[in-house]
Amino acid sequence: MPSMVIVGAQWGDEGKGKLTDYLTNKADVVVRYQGGNNAGHTVEVDDQQYKLQLIPSGILHADKLNIIGNGVVIDPEAFLGEIKKLHDRDIPTSNLKISDRAHIILPYHKKIDELSEIRRGSNDIGTTKKGIGPAYMDKTERIGIRVCDLMKKDVFAERLKQNIEIKNQYLKEIFGFEGYSYDEVLEKYLQYAEQLRPYVADTSVLVYNSIKANKRVLFEGAQGTLLDLDYGTYPYVTSSHPVAGGVCVGAGIGPSMIQKAVGVVKAYTTRVGKGPFPTELHDSTGELIRQKGFEFGTVTGRARRCGWFDAVIVRYAARISGLTGLAITKLDTIAGFDKVKICVGYKINNEIIRDFPASIEDLAECEPIYEEFNGWEDVSNITEYKKLPTNLIRYLERIEELCETRISILSVGPKRDQTIVIEEF
Ligand code: IMP
Repeated sequence: MPSMVIVGAQWGDEGKGKLTDYLTNKADVVVRYQGGNNAGHTVEVDDQQYKLQLIPSGILHADKLNIIGNGVVIDPEAFLGEIKKLHDRDIPTSNLKISDRAHIILPYHKKIDELSEIRRGSNDIGTTKKGIGPAYMDKTERIGIRVCDLMKKDVFAERLKQNIEIKNQYLKEIFGFEGYSYDEVLEKYLQYAEQLRPYVADTSVLVYNSIKANKRVLFEGAQGTLLDLDYGTYPYVTSSHPVAGGVCVGAGIGPSMIQKAVGVVKAYTTRVGKGPFPTELHDSTGELIRQKGFEFGTVTGRARRCGWFDAVIVRYAARISGLTGLAITKLDTIAGFDKVKICVGYKINNEIIRDFPASIEDLAECEPIYEEFNGWEDVSNITEYKKLPTNLIRYLERIEELCETRISILSVGPKRDQTIVIEEF
């Protein structure tokens, strides 16, 4: 496996954690390049379930190097909490490094996220309230505080002082919230600094050297294409770049150093939070998919909205990220249905479109055009492509055709051995 990026090709929660964990077997280095602890991955290894948010899934393999790149925003409290949970289960973390250029999340980011959502009322974005958006806002406003700043006591004390004054004023005037004590935040974060210190490195150098040394590097995307700040259903998006292009900036390498990009998609579509969703099912079929697929958020526990596979979306994701393959997960969830559907285009103002529109107002008007397929029975024990039911093979071949991308891998259940590899990486 050369260097490869795994991206979510829908609205997140596509099963990237399991796939990354599976591919980690073949990788030497696993890198997170954007987002933060708004992501949630559930990985099963040897009948043990692990829930990871910030730390790459490769941490469950002691011999792999795991990297949190500069494009990630790090909440030290959440990071250290995750480390503790791993240590409690005897998983070592000496094979983990975090970028000295990554920005950190402070208590006021989380509070601003929470209060802004309340203030938006029925127009809320449905964020995870982890402070992700406000931390990226500070980064672009050039007042953010980075890991390298936190490592220098005087620099951190000075930057925090400047920031906390402005943030407290903002919190008080806009939201009537009293704000934070400088001394308390300073003391707490200086303690975090010492706990973070052993993990801090210039991770761009580590990634570059790994690729130069022909190591196999896996870039683990979080969220999904339709939550990308530029390409997603703006403003119902996250504040970073989950698309493959996000790797270059978020891990500090050039595009020529990435050889493959695999898009992970569910055999159907889900999304959490708000915003238009053309193939959403509001009926008992949607509910059945939710229950069978355990479609509840790993981070927030919210019920996910469910609908049929939307080939317009996945074709768009394939184009934006230059996908070289698709990984289709949760084929077992939609087994046992009499009929299944794929959305092949949208109808809007009596016109048929096949390219994903920019405006969410247009998207809300789009009516899905479906092709219907006969269903298939349980596939959770099948380990070879040619043994899959004919109806399922028809469904998969149509997806390949519509999305103009080959399917590389299929997942028929949560366990590692419930994976069918079509094309080796
Ligand atoms: P934020 O990333 O917390 O700012 O939330 C912005 C939007 O992204 C909301 O709609 C969230 O529900 C969504 N979101 C963020 N992280 C994830 C994820 O890992 N999976 C699915 N949706 C997510």
